[in-house]
Amino acid sequence: MKHALITGGSGVIGSNLSDALLERGYEVTVIDNLLTGRIQNIEHNLENPKFHLIHDTILNEPLMDELIKSASVVYHLAAAVGVKHIVNDPLQGILINVKGSEIVFAHAFKYWKRVVFASTSEIYGRSTDIPFKEDGLRVLGPTHVDRWSYSTSKALDEHLAFAYHHKGLPVSIVRYFNAYGPRIDESGYGSVVANFISQAFRGEPLTVHGDGQQTRCFTFVGDTVRGTIATGEHKAAIGQAFNIGNNKEITILELAERIKKLTGTTADIKFIPYEKAYGKSYQDTRRRVPDVSKAQEMLGFRAEVDLDDGLARTIAWAREHYEVN
Ligand SMILES: NC(=O)c1ccc[n+]([C@@H]2O[C@H](COP(=O)([O-])OP(=O)(O)OC[C@H]3O[C@@H](n4cnc5c(N)ncnc54)[C@H](O)[C@@H]3O)[C@@H](O)[C@H]2O)c1
Repeated sequence: MKHALITGGSGVIGSNLSDALLERGYEVTVIDNLLTGRIQNIEHNLENPKFHLIHDTILNEPLMDELIKSASVVYHLAAAVGVKHIVNDPLQGILINVKGSEIVFAHAFKYWKRVVFASTSEIYGRSTDIPFKEDGLRVLGPTHVDRWSYSTSKALDEHLAFAYHHKGLPVSIVRYFNAYGPRIDESGYGSVVANFISQAFRGEPLTVHGDGQQTRCFTFVGDTVRGTIATGEHKAAIGQAFNIGNNKEITILELAERIKKLTGTTADIKFIPYEKAYGKSYQDTRRRVPDVSKAQEMLGFRAEVDLDDGLARTIAWAREHYEVN
């Protein structure tokens, strides 16, 4: 039987990935220290004999050695995530993302295990070479601006992955573009969709940073998971990086307006300067759009869920699960 180890499997994407792999007949082991993940995301699987939860950190190297040895594939998603988290504690972010990935890759290399590494669209930074192609430029700000440490730590992880691949490790990289959907966390660590939905439920103004003309491509988590599994199951994906995302671009202001409409809130939209949200030296990326042709051609993967449908499903889930609604 196929046995997947998912690091960070109690998180938003990891828990949805667990469900999808269990459905496909995999045995699934999750290791998660619940830094941002939640037990509620996986508790429906706890009685399933094919599901195992290990509450520990990926920095526990002897444990990781054991877990990787008994897996047939490793989906490595554990990371310090979210711009707010990274800006609040850049050191923790760098150490988890760099040391943790080094442990995962080194032990997967020891046992020659298939690995899929979760990277990010942040890799491209402020590149204006739109849409972002997998082999496109990375444009980052200075190192004293903490937000770039996330992009840089994930890029170092990618370099490590490619370096291990040169030695024979069967590893692939998926670069996610703004995943959202059921289980996004309203505690505000990063998801603008979750923030807007919980503000709308509370009847508070939806807070848009800057002028709201910055764009993103929001990807329903079911699509993110499909793209991840397609990467893990295609032999041709080994040694490759893929943009996994929707390529429909939307401004953050438009997103706020859509969520206002779909939740039926009468609350206003309020603009907040970036400095107020993230401190003085914050720098944002203005546009972020994936070129999705490589994933489509090599994996047959294309995001399918359109934003209104995905938002409606997310809002329906949030009505049942968010404390304030
Ligand atoms: N959500 C997105 O839009 C997005 C975009 C780009 C990249 N990613 C990447 O996808 C992955 C999953 O992100 P997500 O959105 O599901 O976030 P998430 O915060 O829900 O998931 C991350 C998980 O990693 C766990 N974790 C953190 N440090 C750990 C450690 N030391 N040991 C064990 N577990 C640890 C957290 O508890 C959490 O469950 C991350 O690697 C993230 O960088 C996500």
